[in-house]
Amino acid sequence: MSDLTIQLTDHPKAKPADESKLKFGDLFTDHMLMMDYDEGQGWHDARIVPYGPLALDPAAMCLHYGQEVFEGMKAYRAEDGRILLFRPEQNFARLNLSNDRLCIPPVDEDKMVEYLKEFLRVEKDWVPHSKDTSLYLRPFIIAIDPHLGVHSGKHYYFIVIASPVGAYYPEGLNPVSIYVETKYVRSVRGGTGFTKTAGNYSASLKAQSEAEEKHYTQVLWLDGVERRYIEEVGTMNVFFKIDGEIITPSLDGSILGGITRKSAIELMHSWGLKVTERRISIDELAEAYDAGKLEEAFGTGTAAVISPIGFLDWGDTKKMEIGGGKIGPVSQRLYDELTAIQWGRTKDPFGWSVEV
Ligand code: COI
Repeated sequence: MSDLTIQLTDHPKAKPADESKLKFGDLFTDHMLMMDYDEGQGWHDARIVPYGPLALDPAAMCLHYGQEVFEGMKAYRAEDGRILLFRPEQNFARLNLSNDRLCIPPVDEDKMVEYLKEFLRVEKDWVPHSKDTSLYLRPFIIAIDPHLGVHSGKHYYFIVIASPVGAYYPEGLNPVSIYVETKYVRSVRGGTGFTKTAGNYSASLKAQSEAEEKHYTQVLWLDGVERRYIEEVGTMNVFFKIDGEIITPSLDGSILGGITRKSAIELMHSWGLKVTERRISIDELAEAYDAGKLEEAFGTGTAAVISPIGFLDWGDTKKMEIGGGKIGPVSQRLYDELTAIQWGRTKDPFGWSVEV
């Protein structure tokens, strides 16, 4: 028996009337999952409560020093009505990795999966039915101590909110255009780049908004030291198909270890493709492009799923139109097979799907 308490809302909201109009992350369900941490007591009081504003002391540490971590995951509705999670244990393992780096006490990963399932049973009618829609889940932890000294907190909230979503990019599965960022950096080895913490994303906003002004979808980050090696796109890991081989930047501390990235690598291995995780420089990519060997580029992420990259602009140095600006066969197959597993349309040979 779970120790989770449940308080249902008296004011359920209307569900989206037209799921085809769902965007990303601007609509929230009726409830949230919460849990408290107090030093000496550990994590306690797990509860499902009506969704609503938090009362935070204006001195709460998360508001000043960004002691925060988060995750992104999705619940999918299968045609037979089952609700499925995709590798949720991986998300909570990564949350604990982020926790460790941000000096936040770890959560019990198995218990979190169980709580999440209970939360989803309460919110089951919010998991949308239409093709390519899902319920995005955002677990996060914030330090709430009212304290302005720079130390780690002794009191935290763990919260999960949920949002019915469509595609992250307005382009959907159409190729996105990406700007290679040369002025700003996102992260360096030894920093927090491998974690999901707010600071990584706030540090990316300036570059993102400048790129949007130039009509790019997102930026491709280069390493923060030599400014040559490809790292990741703001919300995705990246892959390139060069002369038949799939190459993706290795995880060396400054890049997020995406669960979709890991799953894409495992899928491509199962097809017999050669996938190499290594450093790859923007110069090497441009040379491969000039030699006609850059066959495909795509990004992977929970929110973005598989997103083909059709255009990659490296300032005025090089403008690359990849695969004729169209989705390539590897990206298409990855999208088809991954989403078939996520939405339960096919047998899951990997044991990734977890029924709620
Ligand atoms: C996700 O893919 O879940 C992410 O965390 C990206 C997000 C920042 C939109």
